[in-house]
Amino acid sequence: MKKIYIGCDHAGFELKEKIKEFLTKKNLSFEDLGNTEYDEKDDYPDYAFPVAKRVAKENAIGILFCGSGLGMCIAANRIKGVRAVAINNLKDSESSRNEDYANILCLGGRTLGFWKAKRILNKWLETPYSKEARHKRRVKKIR
Ligand code: RB5
Repeated sequence: MKKIYIGCDHAGFELKEKIKEFLTKKNLSFEDLGNTEYDEKDDYPDYAFPVAKRVAKENAIGILFCGSGLGMCIAANRIKGVRAVAINNLKDSESSRNEDYANILCLGGRTLGFWKAKRILNKWLETPYSKEARHKRRVKKIR
């Protein structure tokens, strides 16, 4: 399992804390790059970029949390080598890994409950990248 980096803003903070407990129960190690405390004035790019940079540099994976998952996703994708996705259903969670080789999962603290976020994350973590040439060719074109 690759190293997992996580990050959040205020709107994703509560969900991130619950997912941290979940990862710990699953014996998965992770590093929290903040925000490590609730601050209603914080801004998601300040947490998206550190996670995205470590993911790209270390060939790791990341989980980012904001209100919708969308701002984090937009910011993270500015970093070369990052393939961030904002997901709210199981089917997309699976295909984002299997077909698109996503390396950062963005989740919305205001749009997903813990139960749904947990199921999406499980699916994302357990789905391997496809061995099919057409998917590899497409990801290579993005690179
Ligand atoms: C913060 O209020 C909110 O805008 C942010 O968490 C995120 O949802 C942006 O996409």
